[in-house]
Amino acid sequence: MDKLIIEGGQRLVGAVSISGAKNAALPILAATLLSDDKSIIRNVPALRDMSTMLKIIRNLGVKVEQDGDEVIVEPKGYKKWKAPYDLVSTMRASICVLGPLLAKQRFAEVSFPGGCIIGPRPIDLHMKGIKALGVKVKVEKGYIIADAKGLRGGNVYLGGHFGTSVLATANTMMAATLANGVTVIENAACEPEVVDLAEFLLKMGAKIKGHSTHRIIIEGVKRLHGAEHYVIADRIEAGTYMLAAAITKGDLRLKGARLEHVVALVDKLTESGLDISESTGGFRARFIKKLRPVTITTLPYPGFPTDMQAQFMSLMAVTEGISVITEKIYPERFIHISELARMGADIILEGPNAIVKGVKYLSGAPVMASDLRASAALVLAGLVARNRTEINRVYHLDRGYEKLEDKLTKLGARVWREKEK
Ligand code: EPZ
Repeated sequence: MDKLIIEGGQRLVGAVSISGAKNAALPILAATLLSDDKSIIRNVPALRDMSTMLKIIRNLGVKVEQDGDEVIVEPKGYKKWKAPYDLVSTMRASICVLGPLLAKQRFAEVSFPGGCIIGPRPIDLHMKGIKALGVKVKVEKGYIIADAKGLRGGNVYLGGHFGTSVLATANTMMAATLANGVTVIENAACEPEVVDLAEFLLKMGAKIKGHSTHRIIIEGVKRLHGAEHYVIADRIEAGTYMLAAAITKGDLRLKGARLEHVVALVDKLTESGLDISESTGGFRARFIKKLRPVTITTLPYPGFPTDMQAQFMSLMAVTEGISVITEKIYPERFIHISELARMGADIILEGPNAIVKGVKYLSGAPVMASDLRASAALVLAGLVARNRTEINRVYHLDRGYEKLEDKLTKLGARVWREKEK
């Protein structure tokens, strides 16, 4: 297993290209299964999660070719409908093959994805979405077994304890594209990744209205054709580099990133004192004055993203004063607190609220990556910490940050990978 070593204290300066969005590319690759024709997806990031999705697609008997960031999927004549445990258990997002398989094969067997380190991850909203389309569902031997012989349009409200659901919206929307009749998804997720998926489905010939709002209307069609698509830039990767600029008192230009996708983060970072402006083909994040603590609450889009909560906490951990970070999407997503504490952070957890008291400095230490975004938080902490930070179990980062060390090194960081002994 690899570990990441960071010698902190370098100011990051320069331009970085933001990769394609993992969370858009995953459902879009799954959506290629809706057609018999070839689809070409570009700007697919080279990440472990992407390899898992391609394995699931290949395992269905579909031909997949990959050339750099381009993936060509040729589903012609595939007959299978099963996503097995050994693949699904390594990546929860595998559940997004459920909708396409139901629409195309009218049957699906997808391993139950289970929970994960960021807390329980129920799938009741996925079930609710597809049941509203006439699908019969049962869970047996750890598998969701769904029969869509009676697939037809329907109305569904996708709301749970923690608001709407990104992938349940994606699954319901994909299943509805080939259903007989009209589907209305109320309280739909409007994250940019859902919108990008809808744009791809439209190119395939789907009839969709209202994506990017909380009410998506889908009129089922008889067949979808292949399409070409360029995946949007990853707003979470962009956000992480904005925080790298802030925490290292740096000046970064984020190429390819879209400011309108990170409005909540921009709002909070501006309030804190970071200078953010549009620049050619992206935007610039520049440290110009001492930052102030700010309070955040994670919410569905366009609210502050849960996927930026851990990284934001690292910044607040070294920002003089007190900030409160409230997690409203995954109330248990706080594993990073104990690792940040190993580096000298002063954070108290009270229910879903983390009270962060900024310290003068963090001190490098051996720490353990627990999940993707928690790992990114430790990288940010390592960039600003005194001395050396060793991040173990770095494979979590490989799930979501393309060429992380290369990109950081080019910006002036001292970071490298070593084999864990
Ligand atoms: C997506 O997961 C992302 N993953 C997550 O990114 C992200 O944290 C999350 O959306 C929230 O923005 C992908 O897109 C691949 P949800 P998803 O269903 O769709 C509850 C990352 O680090 N819920 O929108 O699975 C759920 O427990 C990751 O890249 C139900 O109650 O998340 C949570 O509280 C991790 N019932 C809330 O809804 C359900 O059936 C939002 O989750 C489904 C979800």
